[in-house]
Amino acid sequence: MRTYLVTGGAGFIGSNYIHYMFEKYGDEIRIINVDALTYAGNLENLKGVDERDNYTFVKADICDKDAISRIFAENDIDRVVHFAAESHVDRSIKNPEVFVKTNVLGTAVMLNCARAAWEKEDGTYPEDKKFLHVSTDEVYGSLPEGNGYFYETTPYSPHSPYSSSKAGSDMLVRAYMDTYHFPANITNCSNNYGPYQFPEKLIPLMINNALNGKKLPVYGDGKNVRDWLYVRDHAKAIDMVQEQGKLFETYNVGGHNEKQNIEIVQIIIDTLLEILPDSDPRKANVSRDLITYVEDRKGHDRRYAIAPDKIKAAVGWQPDTMFKEGIRLTIQWYLEHEDWMKNVTSGDYQKYYETMYNV
Ligand code: NAD
Ligand code: TYD
Repeated sequence: MRTYLVTGGAGFIGSNYIHYMFEKYGDEIRIINVDALTYAGNLENLKGVDERDNYTFVKADICDKDAISRIFAENDIDRVVHFAAESHVDRSIKNPEVFVKTNVLGTAVMLNCARAAWEKEDGTYPEDKKFLHVSTDEVYGSLPEGNGYFYETTPYSPHSPYSSSKAGSDMLVRAYMDTYHFPANITNCSNNYGPYQFPEKLIPLMINNALNGKKLPVYGDGKNVRDWLYVRDHAKAIDMVQEQGKLFETYNVGGHNEKQNIEIVQIIIDTLLEILPDSDPRKANVSRDLITYVEDRKGHDRRYAIAPDKIKAAVGWQPDTMFKEGIRLTIQWYLEHEDWMKNVTSGDYQKYYETMYNV
């Protein structure tokens, strides 16, 4: 039975990945989820999973090398999937330091502990040990409007403190591969959307605000472009890269779904108006009049777009969920999980750990 150490599994992508993995492998795998439960970590995202015998949650900071090395000492870890990070660009502009700490130092701790646990005396590693570092396309910088894509060979040119810290963490992983022949992969994915995303990010924020009749703050001219991928397709890509990809390689993950932010906001409004029955009182709140152009984000990258040719050729990955379907599934999920959203926006989700774990 393979044992996974997943970091940041209480966050948006990590929790979707854990759900995906248990749906795919059931009792064939074991997952240990280590998460510090920052504001972005929500154990409610893992309801149901937490009842499984082959799942364990450990509350720990990835910067805490004693805690992380203890997990490696007490368990025979076969796979590390490293999601834990500070992930929101706007927060990184306000408070860059915690991004450097978690994203760079935390990754260094994860690499060190994995290496210490796995490296044999002759400097080689057992064949079944693999580390996957989850990164972002934002490390490549910004593309001009309507022209070009990010490839694995595109030079790094990060602009925000978030993307710089992720670039730093990627470089550390590369250094471990080059220096110690450490068995790793890096995936650089485009913007994700789907269930369990914290409502500070564009899509859940706009859904929640629209339902509550609050303004929809569009930065700058609203024409910045992001390349959106349904989160489950990202989870699938990570698993395929780790099991079928070539070690030491980087893979870009994206589904050729470029959209301007203003288009996304309009699609959300139109879909809400279409899906909500007239009897739902929230429908009256939803209107294009809520769109409000606000001051632009500092250093706002204009366009991201991934060319996923390498991952497709290497492991046969391509997205299953097209945007038209994915955005409906996502909106439907938020409509059906009003309590989840209320708990998140009120801060109540942070009490879940105490209740669940009796601390
Ligand atoms: P998220 O902010 O929703 O979740 C991050 C998780 O990490 C939370 O559960 C949080 O509690 C945990 N965490 C933060 N600091 C920690 C620490 N010091 N120790 C232990 N746990 C800690 O983020 P996400 O959107 O799920 O992103 C996950 C990963 O994917 C990140 O590495 C991010 O850079 C990358 N990524 C995200 C996107 C996206 O669109 N969201 C796209 C590409 C790549
Ligand atoms: P975001 O979801 O924060 O992801 P990222 O910055 O990592 O791409 O933002 C996506 C895009 O939406 C980005 O161009 C900024 C823009 N945006 C807004 O216009 N208004 C908002 O309230 C937010 C959160 C983002």
